[in-house]
Amino acid sequence: MPFLSLLGILLFGLLSRSQLVITQIVNDQETLLAIGKEFKISGWSLNSSSDQYCTWPGIFCNNSFVERLDLSSHGLKGNLTLISELKSLKWLDLSFNNFNGIIPPSFGNLSELEFLDLSFNSFGGTIPVEFSRLRNLRALNVSNNFLIGVVPQEFEGLNNLQELQLFTNRLNGSIPMWVGNLTSLRVFTAYENELTGFIPDKLGSFTELQLLNLHSNQLEGSIPESIFSMQKLETLVLTQNRLSGYIPRSIGNCKRLSSIRIGDNGLIGGIPREIGNISSLTYFEANNNNLSGEIVAEFSKCSNLTLLNLASNGFTGTVPLEFGLLSNLQELIVSGNDLFGDIPISILRGKNLNKLDLSSNRFNGTIPESICSTSRLQFLLLGQNSIRGEIPHEIGNCTKLLELQLGSNYLIGNIPPEIGHIKNLQIALNLSSNHLVGELPEELGRLDKLVSLDVSNNQLGGNIPSALKGMMSLIEVNFSNNRFSGPTPSFVPFQKSPNSSFIGNKGLCGEPLSVSCGNLNGSASDDNYHHRVSYRIILAVIGSGLAVFASVTVVVLLFMMRERQEKAAKESKTVDEEINDSPVILAGNVFVESLQQAIDFEAVAKATMKESNKLSIGTFSSVYKADMPSGMILSVRKLKSMDKTILNHQSKMIREVEKLSKLCHDNLMRPIGFVLFEDVVLLLHHYFPNGTLAQFLHDSTKKPDYKPDWPARLAIAIGVAEGLAFLHNVAIIHLDISSGNVVLDSNFNPLVGEVEISKLLDLSRGTASISAVAGSFGYIPPEYAYTMQVTAPGNVYSYGVVLLEILTTQLPVDEAFGEGIDLVKWVHTAPARGETPEQILDARLSTVSFGWRKEMLAALKVALLCTDSTPAKRPKMKNVVEMLKEITQN
Ligand SMILES: *[C@@H]1O[C@H](CO)[C@@H](O)[C@H](O)[C@H]1NC(C)=O
Ligand SMILES: *[C@@H]1O[C@H](CO)[C@@H](O)[C@H](O)[C@H]1NC(C)=O
Ligand SMILES: *[C@@H]1O[C@H](CO)[C@@H](O)[C@H](O)[C@H]1NC(C)=O
Ligand SMILES: *[C@@H]1O[C@H](CO)[C@@H](O)[C@H](O)[C@H]1NC(C)=O
Ligand SMILES: *[C@@H]1O[C@H](CO)[C@@H](O)[C@H](O)[C@H]1NC(C)=O
Ligand SMILES: *[C@@H]1O[C@H](CO)[C@@H](O)[C@H](O)[C@H]1NC(C)=O
Ligand SMILES: *[C@@H]1O[C@H](CO)[C@@H](O)[C@H](O)[C@H]1NC(C)=O
Ligand SMILES: *[C@@H]1O[C@H](CO)[C@@H](O)[C@H](O)[C@H]1NC(C)=O
Ligand SMILES: *[C@@H]1O[C@H](CO)[C@@H](O)[C@H](O)[C@H]1NC(C)=O
Repeated sequence: MPFLSLLGILLFGLLSRSQLVITQIVNDQETLLAIGKEFKISGWSLNSSSDQYCTWPGIFCNNSFVERLDLSSHGLKGNLTLISELKSLKWLDLSFNNFNGIIPPSFGNLSELEFLDLSFNSFGGTIPVEFSRLRNLRALNVSNNFLIGVVPQEFEGLNNLQELQLFTNRLNGSIPMWVGNLTSLRVFTAYENELTGFIPDKLGSFTELQLLNLHSNQLEGSIPESIFSMQKLETLVLTQNRLSGYIPRSIGNCKRLSSIRIGDNGLIGGIPREIGNISSLTYFEANNNNLSGEIVAEFSKCSNLTLLNLASNGFTGTVPLEFGLLSNLQELIVSGNDLFGDIPISILRGKNLNKLDLSSNRFNGTIPESICSTSRLQFLLLGQNSIRGEIPHEIGNCTKLLELQLGSNYLIGNIPPEIGHIKNLQIALNLSSNHLVGELPEELGRLDKLVSLDVSNNQLGGNIPSALKGMMSLIEVNFSNNRFSGPTPSFVPFQKSPNSSFIGNKGLCGEPLSVSCGNLNGSASDDNYHHRVSYRIILAVIGSGLAVFASVTVVVLLFMMRERQEKAAKESKTVDEEINDSPVILAGNVFVESLQQAIDFEAVAKATMKESNKLSIGTFSSVYKADMPSGMILSVRKLKSMDKTILNHQSKMIREVEKLSKLCHDNLMRPIGFVLFEDVVLLLHHYFPNGTLAQFLHDSTKKPDYKPDWPARLAIAIGVAEGLAFLHNVAIIHLDISSGNVVLDSNFNPLVGEVEISKLLDLSRGTASISAVAGSFGYIPPEYAYTMQVTAPGNVYSYGVVLLEILTTQLPVDEAFGEGIDLVKWVHTAPARGETPEQILDARLSTVSFGWRKEMLAALKVALLCTDSTPAKRPKMKNVVEMLKEITQN
């Protein structure tokens, strides 16, 4: 043994560098094979001749050394320790996987590493101290995990760090002082943790920092003066901490600052006049602090300012007249202060002003007649002030208003009938607790989108006009404590309101009050509320955009029809020729080990030859039910037309399908295997007897025992949105979103299907591009006609159509809408036809309860956003999920 080891040492000394290199290359290959096995990464094997490991997916080499490894978004989990054997690694991205357990300390051995991204996993434990050995590291991202403990002291040697992202973990302790020594740092985020202590003063020595985001921690002490010596700082977010002390005057030194968010802290003192030196400022948010003094006029020098939020502080004085210079201002929010004087007329001249919130102050002027002569205000919130005088008739000029809050002021006189001109008013009209007199104007009945009406605590009299039955969207009303008399109109929103909405009116009688009207009760029929508008009768006003859309759709349709005919011809031939023979299986695989025994490829292939097994036909594929000899039932997707091109890329296709089988999300239908026979590609899935969303909406609701099911529908809408948001997150654009491609499992949990097509068509781009942008008729975004390109906003549009289907129970295209009109056009043009959203929704659901109706109206808003004809105006799928979830929470 001693001899051998001596020999070893001698040999080692003699080895040339090239031999060392070879040793390592062999090692890298072995390591990668082991990693591939551990994580079941498809395509990481030595099977095909060209498959030298440097060509494997996600691997990038330099001179045969593995330098980059990108395994992001693969749904991976397992033991990562092996990766630390790849000694030449400079760039490692493991983000968006399912890794859990501790981060392997052995990563500290990767001495060449420059970029390390472990974000969006489920790592626990602490950040390994061993990372302090990664001297070449430029970017470290461990955000969105479950990391605990402190940021290690030992990191102070990481002098090359440019980006350090630690957000959304459970890190505690204080921000280490060494951060201040990282002179190259450009991005530092540690928001949503449990960090305590002070923000280190040393941060000021950063000269390169552009983004500092530490919101939602428990940081205390003052904002260090030195932060503002960072000349390149653009975004500063310190919201939701326990910061105290003054806003430093040095803030004015930061010439490039565009966004300052320091709300929800305990800051005191005034806003330094130096704020006016920050000419690039667009966003200033300091609400919920203890700031005081006057609102400084110097803000008016920040000509790009779009949002100023100083709500819930102790500001006093008036709103500076100079604010009229802020022509880009969209939102001015100063509620909950001690401000007084007139409503700032100069600001109202700003054409971009969208929200003016002066509520809960001591404003004591009158409402100016010029209130909406130029602005496009959507939110006018003046409640809880001392505003005097009458509501001017010109209020009717505020046609964009969504919410008008004038409650708890000293307003006198009548309610101007012009309020009825504000057709967009929908969130609330609150005139309560004033000194208003006279009768309610009948014109209020034209506010058919309004959800909440409060006129309580005034001296209003007369009857409640039955014209108010035109307020089809009403959910909350309050007429209490006035001088109303006569019967309450029989109108469902009134009768479903509590007593308290009508009490305190001596002369009022009828439901829901317990005072009977005797003979007075004329019991007007409530068909106004329940009337079923025949929305089938629609004028086909075809705008120019629609005309273009229609003609391109025709082209696409013709193309699809030709394909379909060709396919049909071929299919019938296949059936004749092959029904009796055993199909020749070229290849097949089942990715789920436990199912391998249960699936018989020949039985799969044979099942797709029988028309009676066909479950549905889509743009790109047909689906068959396949009974396995084992008793298992499969759903088999047979790809259309482009299958030949895919067959030319067989190995790539198999890789893609296998990759997709690892995409792990509750709302995605993952392939469990595939079969190739003749020139046919079959994708195997679990079979779900509840069918598709299309069948659920359009077949089951026709049955006589149909039970309204809004909560189930909303849950499906959210599920589909989540599945798509996940796909977009991993950069997959779906090609054919439709209710027919959403399958419902036994719990009615939706699964988005046909995800594979997106990846497979990718392989054969060029031959199938026109059908690639086709999707399903009725779901195709108008811009595809010009761009011929599938996009994420295009997916949002198609999703919007599915959501409209859920809300209306209408088909995406139906002759009944009128010539050239699809569901989207039909819904979007409803206001122009004088129909309310109420008349568009499936009345069997929306009339069940106010709660349901409110939720449906909110969901309708989301659907309208999604189907906006301008792609840039559509929300991201992620935001759609948030908006829909908010509906369920309220
Ligand atoms: C090729 O792949 C098959 C199945 O995946 C496997 O059984 C075989 O061992 C592989 N061959 C080599 C040389 O890796
Ligand atoms: C490849 O490595 C060599 C030396 O190891 C280096 O000089 C070169 O810049 C690297 N190439 C790339 C593209 O990184
Ligand atoms: C991971 O694998 C390494 C060897 O490659 C082993 O030493 C270690 O114990 C494993 N860790 C876990 C958590 O299984
Ligand atoms: C790699 O890291 C582990 C854990 O930090 C350590 O025990 C081991 O000695 C290191 N190996 C090398 C070759 O540096
Ligand atoms: C993690 O942070 C790095 C460095 O800032 C960044 O390049 C990367 O995009 C981040 N990863 C994710 C998933 O956001
Ligand atoms: C920062 O660097 C200086 C020298 O450049 C050193 O003296 C000091 O100890 C370092 N501080 C921390 C907290 O690492
Ligand atoms: C204001 O915004 C515009 C458009 O983004 C920009 O070009 C301009 O430089 C900005 N002005 C200042 C003073 O930063
Ligand atoms: C408004 O209130 C301020 C401060 O309380 C007072 O000085 C001023 O006279 C009031 N204006 C009117 C018109 O009442
Ligand atoms: C505002 O409203 C008044 C009265 O309702 C009307 O006469 C006037 O033309 C309107 N002004 C504008 C600018 O719309």
